[in-house]
Amino acid sequence: MKNKRILSGIQPSGTLHIGNYFGAIRQFLNLQVENECYYFIANYHALTTISDPKILAENSRQVALDYLALGLNPEKAALFMQSDVPEVTELAWILSTVTSMGLLERAHSYKDKTARGILPSHGLFAYPVLMAADILIYDSDLVPVGKDQKQHLEMTRDIAIRFNNIYGEILTVPEPMILSDVAVVPGIDGQKMSKSYDNTLEIFLEYKPLKKKVMRIVTDSKSLEESKDPEASTIIDLYKLFATPVELNDMKKNFLSGEYGYGHAKKELLDKMFSYFEDARNKRNELQNNLDYIEEVLQEGAKKARKRSSEVMERVRQAVGIIRPEIVLQKMFEEKLLLKK
Ligand code: ADP
Ligand code: TRP
Repeated sequence: MKNKRILSGIQPSGTLHIGNYFGAIRQFLNLQVENECYYFIANYHALTTISDPKILAENSRQVALDYLALGLNPEKAALFMQSDVPEVTELAWILSTVTSMGLLERAHSYKDKTARGILPSHGLFAYPVLMAADILIYDSDLVPVGKDQKQHLEMTRDIAIRFNNIYGEILTVPEPMILSDVAVVPGIDGQKMSKSYDNTLEIFLEYKPLKKKVMRIVTDSKSLEESKDPEASTIIDLYKLFATPVELNDMKKNFLSGEYGYGHAKKELLDKMFSYFEDARNKRNELQNNLDYIEEVLQEGAKKARKRSSEVMERVRQAVGIIRPEIVLQKMFEEKLLLKK
């Protein structure tokens, strides 16, 4: 028996960096061992910010490739496209009828995104309702997300509670699991690594371009001979993620003893990071030549997801009084048969 039903959505927003890996992906992968996991690529959501069909389709496929290469096991976790469960938009509409304007008007993410110049569309405004539908349609227990999504989860809970107050205990109210408490990975400039700050180290970068980036990691200007502070170094903070405790300790000692330049430390970091993702890189190259397999995984994942979503949707339709004609006919048929007996 699996412990909890876990669900999370992944924005298909381009190349993944090691902040994404240690802050989110690794947790998703760990959760798949003991839980029933559903991870989907949020392509309906991405339409609020990406209007180039080629980019949307390509990015969506890249996410699937990246996650499978990094160890998502399709036997354990369902990986699928959001749009392969189209009922999620039906549920979003139904939920929107119990969602107050005030709730949506308070959303930080809408304000942040429009301030950054993203079109203030109805889709962007209603984004949290679609997100609530994503979560509620699978009876999810636990939703692992970054801190920036905390408010969206609170909104999901509010919407579910409101729905249940009106229609009865139909929807499972989910619990958040905030991942940003886990680790904040610094970028090459020492700030939080983020694709918006142009300070990232990408997981699947080739050796040469990765080397260029690692060599740009900001340090103070201490000379090779001088002793250096291991507690205030971005190199050490990054090395920690890949090295064993003994290796980490050795680097710290070298920092303190002097005669060990930042260039040496960067080279050690580079080699550790490159070999850490070697298996994933090989797997990714293999998968890239087997796109049929990716498609198969996504289809299987969608099948598993639809099995659950159709149960929840049926409960919701019944609760609100939207009865599908085939069900009415079936009922009439059954009653007639009963009458004849
Ligand atoms: P970015 O800041 O590069 O746009 P996203 O917002 O797409 O990254 O983040 C996707 C996931 O990766 C989130 O769960 C987020 O918490 C996690 N994440 C992103 N950057 C970091 C980081 N530097 N350290 C830890 N986790 C991170
Ligand atoms: N909004 C999330 C993000 O930007 C992605 C997402 C969409 C999601 N639907 C979800 C996350 C449902 C968790 C659950 O990262």
